[in-house]
Amino acid sequence: MVQFNDNVMTIALKGEPAKSCDIRFGEGLFPEISEDVKKLYNGRRYAIITDSNVRLLYGEMLKEEIGRDAEVFSFEAGEKSKNIYTCDDIIGDMTKSKYGRDTLILALGGGVVGDMAGFIAAIFNRGVPYIQIPTTLLAQADSSVGGKTAVDTKHGKNLIGAFKQPEKVYIDISTIKTLSDRDYKNGLAETIKHGIIQDDKYFEYLKNNLSDILNRDPESLLTIAKRNCEIKGNVVEINNFLGEKKPRKANMIFYIFILLIALCRYLFLMKI
Ligand SMILES: NC(=O)c1ccc[n+]([C@@H]2O[C@H](COP(=O)([O-])OP(=O)(O)OC[C@H]3O[C@@H](n4cnc5c(N)ncnc54)[C@H](O)[C@@H]3O)[C@@H](O)[C@H]2O)c1
Repeated sequence: MVQFNDNVMTIALKGEPAKSCDIRFGEGLFPEISEDVKKLYNGRRYAIITDSNVRLLYGEMLKEEIGRDAEVFSFEAGEKSKNIYTCDDIIGDMTKSKYGRDTLILALGGGVVGDMAGFIAAIFNRGVPYIQIPTTLLAQADSSVGGKTAVDTKHGKNLIGAFKQPEKVYIDISTIKTLSDRDYKNGLAETIKHGIIQDDKYFEYLKNNLSDILNRDPESLLTIAKRNCEIKGNVVEINNFLGEKKPRKANMIFYIFILLIALCRYLFLMKI
């Protein structure tokens, strides 16, 4: 079971040696992130990897907060950038700036940034530590937890990747206020799916508080971030990557069926 201590959730990770990953929830966390990385990763150089949109909104802000040991490396926003060539470009820029084994990567952005910066952390200099700072609802609900990293290829989505657990995840709900309606609703669909598949009480909560949730009320955002991560965290603890199996065909059909129901209920709730 994942453990909660105030605004920090701990996921126990199996493996040799067993590890754990903390998820910190809050609002306006950049000063705390800066203080933590400088204390816990003193002497390292900090590479903030982000996309072109998030760079302008939060990347430079985080760099200012951390100070001279941090540099921002960005790529054009969007799924089309999530490939090995963009990773190579970012790694090239980091190398030009003399980043090496002493690097700590800060993955600041949505699922695309998280997947790609996590993958760079897995392969750069045979692996360097990284932390996740997800800024979309989808990334806060799902992709930043569990250590799955990957890039797309012309042969398939997420075809090249690695399991690489972040040192820590910081979920700063204040970043959600700038998200487009489209991306917000996209993350909400993932949230509603969690409710339908895993927890009836949570689904009731979402239904009863829909107006606050749609208005991005901070308290509701915090509640859904915590519950989403708890659900994903429990899945990660059970399906730890060492024992992960391919879903059986019957499970897949059942899963697709549940997803269709989730989608219909979502469209109904959104009155689309
Ligand atoms: N690793 C996993 O377990 C896992 C799970 C689910 C999805 N994913 C991956 O996640 C990706 C999709 O993630 P996504 O939906 O977050 O897309 P995304 O990362 O492309 O972000 C969507 C858009 O929102 C912008 N954005 C991000 N944060 C913002 C903010 N705070 N304010 C304003 N704009 C902001 C981005 O620049 C982008 O244009 C896919 O590549 C998918 O494969 C991974």
